[in-house]
Amino acid sequence: MFSTQTYITRRNKLRSQITNGLIIIPGNGEAACNYKSNAYRFRQDSTFSYFFGIDEPNLMGIIDIDENLEYLVGENIEIDDIIWMGAQPSMLEKAASVGIPNALKHNNLKDFFGEALQKNRKIHFTSQYRPENTIMLSTLLEMSCNDVNANISVELTKAIVNLRSVKEIAEIAEIEQMIDVAWIMHTTAMKIARAGTSERKIAGIIEGIALSHGKGVSFPTILTMNGETLHNHYRGNILKNGKLMLTDAGAESELLYASDITRTVPVGGKFNSQQKDIYNIVLQANTKAIEILSPQLSYLEVHLEAAKVITNGLKDLGLMKGNIDDAVREGAHALFFPHGIGHQLGLDVHDMEALGEDYVGYSDTITRSSQFGLAYLRFARKPMEGYVLTNEPGIYFIPALIDLWTSQNKFSEFINYNKLEAYKTFGGIRIEDDLLVTAKGCRLMGKPIPKTVEEIEVTMA
Ligand code: GLY
Ligand code: MN
Ligand code: MN
Repeated sequence: MFSTQTYITRRNKLRSQITNGLIIIPGNGEAACNYKSNAYRFRQDSTFSYFFGIDEPNLMGIIDIDENLEYLVGENIEIDDIIWMGAQPSMLEKAASVGIPNALKHNNLKDFFGEALQKNRKIHFTSQYRPENTIMLSTLLEMSCNDVNANISVELTKAIVNLRSVKEIAEIAEIEQMIDVAWIMHTTAMKIARAGTSERKIAGIIEGIALSHGKGVSFPTILTMNGETLHNHYRGNILKNGKLMLTDAGAESELLYASDITRTVPVGGKFNSQQKDIYNIVLQANTKAIEILSPQLSYLEVHLEAAKVITNGLKDLGLMKGNIDDAVREGAHALFFPHGIGHQLGLDVHDMEALGEDYVGYSDTITRSSQFGLAYLRFARKPMEGYVLTNEPGIYFIPALIDLWTSQNKFSEFINYNKLEAYKTFGGIRIEDDLLVTAKGCRLMGKPIPKTVEEIEVTMA
C-alpha cells in the first residue's frame, strides 16, 4: 500500500468536493469461476483501492460528510478462516492502517442506512458493475436492482474522476514500473515470434513475465496474427512467415496500476515492403500525437490530427483519395482506423470506465459523436497536467467491413476499393504507448520499447 497519509489526503480531497450526505464505496468480493471456492483472481475495485487501499475482499468504505466520520465495513475473521487463510489483522487494525478510526460490521448496515433513509439524507454512490454490489446497495437503500445505476451520484462520480485523473508522483512511478515490465514482455515476444511457434505459447510466456513482476496482466493479452480484429483473444494459430503479429499487452502492479502497450511485428523479423509502408503510416500518426498532445488541445483534436496523418499516408499509397480534411470530417478513414486514439490509464486499463465513460472522457462542451469510428473515442476532452493517456493509432484491413462498404459504395469519393483486394489478408497494425501529460506537452513514459522498423528488426534479429 501507499502511506496511510496518502489515503487520508485522498479522502480529505474527496470530502472537500461533496456538499453533504453519506458516501458509500463498495469494495469487491470474490467472484466464483466454476464453483464458489474456485474463484477468479481477486481484483479489488479501483476506486475502493484509491481511497481505502486494502486489497482484500468483502470490505466497504463509508464517508459521512455531515458528521465528519469515516468507517471501514467488514468482518473480523473467525477460527475457521484462520485455518484456511492464516492469522489476519482485526478490522480495527485494518481500518487504522488507512487512517480510519471506526469499523462497522455488515450486519450493522441495515440499521445504519435505515436511519439515514428515514432522515432523508443524501446517499452518494457510483455506477456498479458487479451484481453482488448492486444487490447489496439495492437491499441497503431499499430500491430495486434496476434502480441502483439509475440513481448514481453525479456529484460523487465527477469528484472521483477529477481526483483519479491527475496522477500523483507515486502513481506515475507505479505505471512506469509496469511499462518497464511491458518492455520485457514485448521485447521477449519479438524475439520468439518465429514461424512455427504458436500464438498461445508466446502469450503464455509474456503473461508469465507479468505474473513474475506483480499481479499479472492488466487485461487479457491480445496476441494474434489477425490484428484486424481489435480485441482478438483467440490464440490458436501457428505463426507463419509473411504475417504480422500484433501484441497488445500490459502488466498490473501489486498496487493495481496498469501499463497498456501495443507493438506489431513481422513474423520472422523482417517487414516486407507492403507491411513497412502501412507500419510507417501508423508510426507517423503515433509520433504526431506525441508531438501535439498537451493540456492546450483536446484529445479529440489529437485524434483527428492522427486520422489525417493516416488518411494522407493511405492516399500516398493509392488506397484513399480526395481532400484529406473532408475525408476525416466525414469519417471515411474509419474503414481503416475504426477506434479512438486512446484513453486514460491508471488503476484501470481503461481508467475509470466503471464510473461511466462519458464522465471520464467528455464534458459539457465536448460530447460524444455518433459517427462510426469516432463514437469509439473513449477520451475526447482537454487533458490536464498529470493525466496519463494511451496513444494507440492503428490501420486495419477488416474483410467484412471492406466488403460491406464496397457493397454500399460508401465514401467512394475517398476510397479506392479496387486497390483493397491486395490487402484483405494483411491483418492490422496498432502501435500503442503510454504518455504523461506535462504543463506544455507530454512525455513518453517508461523505458522506450522498440518501435521503428529498424529498432524492431534489430531486436528480432
Ligand atoms: N488494451 C486494450 C486497449 O488498448 O484499449
Ligand atoms: Mn489502450
Ligand atoms: Mn492496449
